[in-house]
Parts: sequence; structure tokens; C-alpha cells
Amino acid sequence: MCGIVGVVSGKDVSQKLFSGLLNLEYRGYDSVGMCVIKDKNFKIKKDVGKIEQVNNKVNFLSLHGNIGIAHCRWSTHGGVTKNNAHPHTGSRNKISIVHNGIIENYSEIKGELQKKKHVFSSETDTEVIAHLIESYLDIYTFEKAVREALKKIEGSYALGILCADEPEKLIGARNESPLIIGVGNNENFISSDIPSILTQTNKIVYLEDKEMAVLTKDNVMVFDLEGKEKKKKIHIINWNAEAAQKSGYKHFMLKEIYEQPRAIADTLNERVQNGSIVFGKEFGFSNNYLSKVNRIVIIGCGTSWHAGLVGKFMLEELAKIPTEVEYASEFRYRHPLLDKSTLIIAISQSGETADTIAALKEAKKHGVKTLAICNVMGSSITRISDGVIYTRAGPEIGVASTKAFTTQLAVLYLLTILFSKLRKTLNKTQIKDMIESIRKIPLQLQSVLDEYDEILKCAELYHNKQNSLYLGRGVNFPIALEGALKLKEVSYMHAEGYPAAEMKHGPIALIDKSMPVVFIAPHDVYTYKKVLGNIEEVKARGGIIIAIATEGDKEIPQKSKHTIFIPKTLYTLSSILSVVPLQLLAYHIADKLGRDVDKPRNLAKSVVVE
Ligand code: F6R
Repeated sequence: MCGIVGVVSGKDVSQKLFSGLLNLEYRGYDSVGMCVIKDKNFKIKKDVGKIEQVNNKVNFLSLHGNIGIAHCRWSTHGGVTKNNAHPHTGSRNKISIVHNGIIENYSEIKGELQKKKHVFSSETDTEVIAHLIESYLDIYTFEKAVREALKKIEGSYALGILCADEPEKLIGARNESPLIIGVGNNENFISSDIPSILTQTNKIVYLEDKEMAVLTKDNVMVFDLEGKEKKKKIHIINWNAEAAQKSGYKHFMLKEIYEQPRAIADTLNERVQNGSIVFGKEFGFSNNYLSKVNRIVIIGCGTSWHAGLVGKFMLEELAKIPTEVEYASEFRYRHPLLDKSTLIIAISQSGETADTIAALKEAKKHGVKTLAICNVMGSSITRISDGVIYTRAGPEIGVASTKAFTTQLAVLYLLTILFSKLRKTLNKTQIKDMIESIRKIPLQLQSVLDEYDEILKCAELYHNKQNSLYLGRGVNFPIALEGALKLKEVSYMHAEGYPAAEMKHGPIALIDKSMPVVFIAPHDVYTYKKVLGNIEEVKARGGIIIAIATEGDKEIPQKSKHTIFIPKTLYTLSSILSVVPLQLLAYHIADKLGRDVDKPRNLAKSVVVE
């Protein structure tokens, strides 16, 4: 994800570009840049860092011009460097461009252009588009040059494009990445989303795939890639400030579900260095201490407790370290047996959950070391603990925890790599494989989020059911618990999570033709075949089977009424991918029922009472 914004106006545009950028920051903030045209020349400022940080350094408002584009980046092709930050220009400084998306055939085009002596200054796929358009400017007008370039590139794009020789024209184009047009008074806008320009205008034109818009300060025209004009409807948007804060999503929960690729990428950022895991100074534990830990006890509540169960699976399976998971509320009243070689890990989104705080204090009385995995900086739990690993999910406002959970799993996975290395339970190749696999997770998550049709269908068909069962095994048993919890808390529909094989020891009695049964069944070498058997058992009793399966699975779709696919990854990591469709299912069912999704009845974001 990246954010782009562009303005063409009768007045100076830098302030408008800047405020647009600030609203787009949720889309990416590893680097940021802005370009305006002054006297037929591009004036560009860009650098690595968050928007405010970069602005403090370069002062975007010192750029003056009546037309400009800006970008906040979430890197895909090319590292986080100033050179890779957008905007990008062609060799002759005639075209400047900002881009959100991925150009799949960029290396092929780059090769062709290099043969024609184009010199590239970044590693990005985006720069190729600027050079390509520039190469066509020798024979075509600006507009036709853009069209020809768009016909040649393959992949996804939302683009903002400027031509130094035509300083009154801003071109926007899209294919599979979002881009809207804002129609203003003596000025017009392009942006990745509506809220970023809502303070400027509420008149919005939606661009469709393979459409290109040509904006001047007092006109907007939209064309297809053959240059045929398309008449577009202007929509009036009536959103209040809170809706704008939700970046156009109906609820914070939905926004936060969709933020997960970014949240996980941020949680990984800088923690994987040269094949090692580095948690930074607030972690506070030496390798020497960690190698002596021979038992871990994880404490938490609700969703954070579920994350702990996934963590147990990872730590025992890969780092071979005995791990127990306790409800914080039970732990403190149980007189737990703890010794100095036990490490306590407290997991908490808010860092303020009273039961977890009390359990941590109990642990400290035994003189054991404590580590917090927490999302809120400076919260009580981080202050009580000896060390902290922050999940970098960003503020979670929806009461149902979503992005905090998946970032907790990402941290537990990194911690598992660290312990596996120290305890020599995995070799270098296995560790490399683990690191490469988690690096792919943000993009794989994005693809899960993009495929929601089947989930919507299930929500439509089953939102009036009274009960449902969620079944999974191994690392996906806690995901069954989490899926059921999400549904219960936001829709108020009763749901139970069970280990799939336990079903035959009781819950199978519940199954009849009206019972939806959600199987979390990604392909694995451990229990997949057994889960297929469990699916058959439910099918034989008429249950409605909704399955989460690995892409390419041929057997599960034959046995299930609905199959939702997740990309292939390591078994331990499948939990991060498989929970996301369950979050979406709970959300859409609750929304269909008209529930107050962000503030479900009887709940609070932080449970600060015991
Ligand atoms: C469920 C949920 C709760 C919390 C629990 C612990 O969606 O949000 O179950 O996970 O109250 O809260 P934290 O993680 O803040 O300690």
C-alpha cells in the first residue's frame, strides 16, 4: 500500500498536498515526497521517514507551485531509501510520477529502455513508468504518451503524473489500485481515498480500472486507454468527521482488519537484520539470559490469550522450549510454581488489562523475569515488565481486537526464531526459510483481504443463524477459538471453538442441517488428513461447512459448501492468514445484523477491572 494525492489549482498547492498526505499516512510511511511545477521545472523534496519527520527536515511548504503530486510509501520494490522514495522522474526531467501498485513487467521494460540509454536512479518499478512516458514524448502529446505507456505496463497502478512542459495538466490513472477524483472550485484533486481531500471538496468521481483522467484547474475529463471520452457521475459525499477518521471504512473494525498488511510490515521492520532477530533497547534481555530460560509461561486475556496459545505451538514445535499458557485471571489466584529459569510473557494490546497487570505483579513476587508483548507505549504493563516488545499495530479503536492479534502472532514468531537460534533447534537454512516466509506475509494478507466475495456470501446466507461451530487443529485450534470469539462479541451470535477431533466427544450432537461449521483447515503434514475426516463427519450429519483451505486444495472444496482460500505458507504462519477471513466473516455478519460493531454491548476496549 502507498498513498498518492495530486492537486491542480489557481493557487499554491503545497499546503493542500501536505494535509492530504497526512490523512493518507495509514497507507504507508516509510518515506514521503512531493513535487510541484514552478516555471516549467519540477521542484521535488523527498526523504525516508514518517511524514512529519521528513517535513521537519525538508519543509514541504517551502515548495511553491499551482500544480503538484505527493506520495507516502510502503515499500514493495526497492528498499527504504531516499532514491526509492517517490516522486520519480524520467532522465530528461520531463515527467514526474507517483504510484501505488506493482508493475509486473517492469524489469523487461527497464531492460529495453536501458538499451536506449535511459539511466535509472532508483530500484523501483515506478521509475520505469516515468522513463517510458518520457520516451513517448518525442512522438506523442503528453496525454497520448501516457496512454501508450499504460497500454504497455502490466500490473496494478494508481498514478499521478505531471509533465514539466504542460504545467496546467495533472493526469491520474488507475488499474486495480484505488484512485478517486475530487472536483473543487477553481481546483481539482486526485487521491487514493476520499477522506484525504474531504476538507477540500465532497464532490467525488470514481475512476474505474483502465481509465485515465486529465485534470486542469477548471475541468476534469476521463478517457479510456483508446482516448475515447467517458462521461462520469459526480457523487456528493456526506461523511462526518468520525467517518473521515475511519478513512472511508464504515467501522474502525473493518479499517483495522484492512490495516493488517501494513501493521505486520511495521512490526517486522528493523527487527530482522542479516538473518538475526533484533528487538531493540526496550527488549532488555541478553542472549546469555535467554539461553538459560528453560520454561515459558504466557499470560493474557481474551484475544491476547489466544495469541499465547499460538505462541505455545510455535515455541514448543520449533524452539523446543516448554511453554504454558494461562488466563491471567486464573494465574494470579493459583499460587503458580515459578523458578528463576522461567520467563513470564504477558501479552496485551492495551497494556492496561487489570487481570494481566495483577498476574504480572504476582509473577514478580516470585522473582521471575517478565516480558511484555504490548501495543501501547508507556502503558502500565510495559512499565511493570523487565522487557518489552512492541507490536506496531497503531491505535486499535474497534473494541474487537484484530490487527493487534496478528501483530502479536508476528512478534511471537520472531521470538520463536530467536529462541530457536539460541537453542540451536533449527539450522541456518530453516531459519532463513522462516524469515523469508514472514516477509511475504504482508502481501499474502493483502491478497486474502482482496478476496472477500465468498465471505460476503456466507454473511448474507447465515447471519440469522443462532449457533455456529469453529473447528481447527494444531496451530489453528486457537484460531478456531479466536474466530468464534470474534463472531460472539460483535454479532452476539453464539459460537464455540473446538479442536476438530474433540467434536466427536460431545459437540457433534449439536450438528444438524441448520448448523454452520467453520473448519480452519490449511494444508499441513500433521493433521490435514484427519481434518478431512472430521469434515466428512459433519457433512454426513448435514452441517453447513465453511472451510478455510490452502490455495490449490482440490479435496476441501468438494466436501464443503463454501471454501475460502489462503496463500501457501509455513504451517506455523498459516494462523496469521487463516484468522483474517474469520475476522471479516464476524464483521460482515454483525454489520448485516445492524450491530454497533465498534462498540459491542457490554464490552470495553480496555478491561481495567478484575
Ligand atoms: C477481543 C478482545 C478482548 C481482549 C482482552 C485483553 O476482541 O479484544 O478479548 O483481547 O480484553 O485485552 P488486552 O489485549 O488489551 O490486554
